[in-house]
Amino acid sequence: MRFSGKRVIVTGAASGIGRASALLFAAEGARVMAADRDAEGLAATRDMAAAPVDTIAFDICDVAACQSLVASAAKGAGIDILCNIAGILDWGETADFDEARFARVLAVNLTGTYAMCRATLPYLVESGGNIVNIASTAGLQGVPYTVAYAASKHGVIGLTKSIAVEYASRGVRVNAVCPGHVNTPMASSPPPKGSEIDWALMMRNAPKLTDGICAPEDIAGMVAFLASDSARKVSGAAFTIDGGQLAG
Ligand SMILES: NC(=O)c1ccc[n+]([C@@H]2O[C@H](COP(=O)([O-])OP(=O)(O)OC[C@H]3O[C@@H](n4cnc5c(N)ncnc54)[C@H](O)[C@@H]3O)[C@@H](O)[C@H]2O)c1
Repeated sequence: MRFSGKRVIVTGAASGIGRASALLFAAEGARVMAADRDAEGLAATRDMAAAPVDTIAFDICDVAACQSLVASAAKGAGIDILCNIAGILDWGETADFDEARFARVLAVNLTGTYAMCRATLPYLVESGGNIVNIASTAGLQGVPYTVAYAASKHGVIGLTKSIAVEYASRGVRVNAVCPGHVNTPMASSPPPKGSEIDWALMMRNAPKLTDGICAPEDIAGMVAFLASDSARKVSGAAFTIDGGQLAG
């Protein structure tokens, strides 16, 4: 029960890594506010949880919705932990991509993460809390056909480190998790029609561990560790969890 009495916001909680994280926090005693744009998925997460979970449907691109979600999560007991897990992937040949698709990916993955951090920071200063942002191994290396996604995830790591330095003296920790390939609906999204994908190039950084790709629960375990007191001296870090993908 590492999170007994803690108030935790998890975005992206209707699916994949966000759902696995919300379920883990709830199982370990946290009062979880599960947030996502997918109301049906949120209801399913709530039904799976070992303890009561609050849910709220919102669009992370809507700044007012981010602020009102944070205010309602904070009512009464404040906020101890923010996990920014909502994200989208859109991919294809860079020259065939366009500015609108590029902007959409940045709006969800990077600006949305920023908006949630900004809205939550005053509460975390009060509680001595922390933030875990989900980046990606695409935030640490070039990944072909993911120009917007990789740019957004490099941005998430930069944002994480900047806030960590700025708020360290106020007792707030901020860390990022960089998953490799994880078995979720996002990871099986097909390339856009008409794209000619060089699969050998795509797979040049396959995981080295041979017992399969990561499960959402593997990433949730790292999220929970970073959010817990066991990581009380960890801040500004970007942890890879990729089955050895980036090891060479
Ligand atoms: N699956 C992977 O291989 C992988 C690898 C590295 C990083 N990640 C990152 O992990 C995070 C979770 O992804 P996942 O694999 O669990 O994918 P997923 O598609 O299962 O879950 C993403 C969730 O984000 C929500 N979401 C998307 N846009 C939103 C918006 N505008 N407002 C509110 N919610 C929104 C979706 O509804 C969904 O529930 C993402 O940030 C993703 O970039 C995933």
